[in-house]
Amino acid sequence: MSPAAKAEEVRKSVDVLLSSSKSAEQLMKGVVKLLHETMLKYNWVGFYMLETEVQGPVLVLGPFEGAMTPHTRIPLNQGICGAAASSGKTVVVDDVQSDPRYLACSLETKSEIVAPIFARGKVVGELDIDSHFPAAFSLEDRQLVEYCAAAVGRYLENPRP
Ligand code: SME
Repeated sequence: MSPAAKAEEVRKSVDVLLSSSKSAEQLMKGVVKLLHETMLKYNWVGFYMLETEVQGPVLVLGPFEGAMTPHTRIPLNQGICGAAASSGKTVVVDDVQSDPRYLACSLETKSEIVAPIFARGKVVGELDIDSHFPAAFSLEDRQLVEYCAAAVGRYLENPRP
């Protein structure tokens, strides 16, 4: 199957999850499982959701697939995760070792993509994916990851009763 056909199939499965999930948590669990199982180079897949604390906003680890990470809470001024959430832009890093912002999660990680989730025009979280392969995330991957992030944003704007 071509990468484009595979991405299209995954998008269709995300649509099914979006229409069948009974909570945002269920949707996010379904998305991380789907991406981790289907996309061979997506070795760690997880959501971070923005929470506001006395000290300020922080990204809190949500549903994920892959090894446990030491980074369960990330301030907005730290990491590639912080950069994506604070800029509201997808960040793709082809070689994590050459990016000074990178917070190491696993020694095996070589590249990373983080796509923000928007609800009602504001960043509310993000979808983070690590790969054991350098430069694993093409434009097609970026579009797919942004599609998944947008699905969660749509759900959060219109949760099921
Ligand atoms: N590498 C991320 C931290 C999270 S782990 O990848 C799961 C970062 O630099 O923000």
